[in-house]
Amino acid sequence: MLLLLLLLFKKILCHGPSTMVLFSPSFNLSQLSFLCLSAAQVLGPHHLAAEEPLSFRVLQTFSFANHSWAHTEVSGWLGELQTHRWDSVLGTIRFLWPWSEGSFSKEELKNLQYLLQLYFHSFPQQVQAFSSQFQFEYPFELQIAFGCRMHSGKASESFLNGAYQGSDFLSFQGNFWKPSPGAGSQAQKVCEVLNHYQVVKEIVQSLLVDTCPRYLAGLLEAGKSELERQVKPEVWVSKGSSPGPGRLLLVCHVSGFHPKPVWVMWMRGEKEQLGTQRSELLPNVDRTWYLRVTLNVAAGEAAGLTCRVKHSSLGGHDIIIHWDGYPILLICICLAVLVTLVILVLVDSWFKKQSSSSLPTAQIRTSALPIYPTLLFPQKPISKNPGIQEVFSAWHRNLGSKIDS
Ligand SMILES: *[C@@H]1O[C@H](CO)[C@@H](O)[C@H](O)[C@H]1NC(C)=O
Repeated sequence: MLLLLLLLFKKILCHGPSTMVLFSPSFNLSQLSFLCLSAAQVLGPHHLAAEEPLSFRVLQTFSFANHSWAHTEVSGWLGELQTHRWDSVLGTIRFLWPWSEGSFSKEELKNLQYLLQLYFHSFPQQVQAFSSQFQFEYPFELQIAFGCRMHSGKASESFLNGAYQGSDFLSFQGNFWKPSPGAGSQAQKVCEVLNHYQVVKEIVQSLLVDTCPRYLAGLLEAGKSELERQVKPEVWVSKGSSPGPGRLLLVCHVSGFHPKPVWVMWMRGEKEQLGTQRSELLPNVDRTWYLRVTLNVAAGEAAGLTCRVKHSSLGGHDIIIHWDGYPILLICICLAVLVTLVILVLVDSWFKKQSSSSLPTAQIRTSALPIYPTLLFPQKPISKNPGIQEVFSAWHRNLGSKIDS
């Protein structure tokens, strides 16, 4: 699989004097200046608000339709956040955030990009060339996940996993290619071949244990404010499709929060309801999260239940939504409508009083009509509820016609 690097190697060897020096017979890993780079950087602690250790991963998907057609898809990820894309037309790294370059210099990034150009150009060709020897059957797909993870700011751990047709195939461990358990003799054979290429292994190892952790540390520092962004959740409850006769499915929706860790529970007072079920966390388009938490209860027992949400953005003030909050809201709306109606009636009678007194009818029309909408209806409707607006405008019309008549 990493014949790619081998070919890449051949190419670098034939490429101009500067790279010749790099891979001269006396070359050793410390001379891989574009991989091992300058200024050693201390990996400082990163306080990422209760997040799991963050990883930087490069995900590569190679689809091979036949002997002459291959497609490559490559992206870079910092934890859940995409930070890079490979532009296979231009052969360039696309940095998706202003801080995606991390702490690497332009020069270092250029060298890295050059290495990737050679790799993404050669790898598919090499796979095609070896496909029959390795018994890869068209159409097939290879996936490679390459990256590293940071633990408590210091120790890091690297990984390189390869999959064939969506199943684990091999990995890079220490300084060897190892077939994945269950990948069979095919993977064994591929690894045997790959393990012969000592220099390729050294490059891969250097990328894994040196380049990646340093790049990750730089990204964590540069992208800190984005990663630590705190966005409060919005919470609402609704009724789900009935789980059976006499039963209710209470749904608590928690949306728009960041970062990812969140605690949501259906409660009765201070008592957690053990039947509470969580959905998968789903991403919103604005890089926040959505979660749905349900509880299946007997219809008579729903009253008094609350949905409680704890999140780092709330500063210890949990959000609590009452299941019966909705009827209360309805009652409030009804009260508001009632009060408004009473006011309308009063104003109506006031107008009638005015019209029955000294002013001639024509004058009432011109003076009264413009006054009362602004009197009763502020510039913008108070409620977004269309029902209420309809009531308002019905009264409006009613009143208008009464005054007219
Ligand atoms: C190879 O696959 C591509 C994409 O499916 C197709 O367009 C092309 O015609 C195929 N070529 C051959 C020689 O089969």
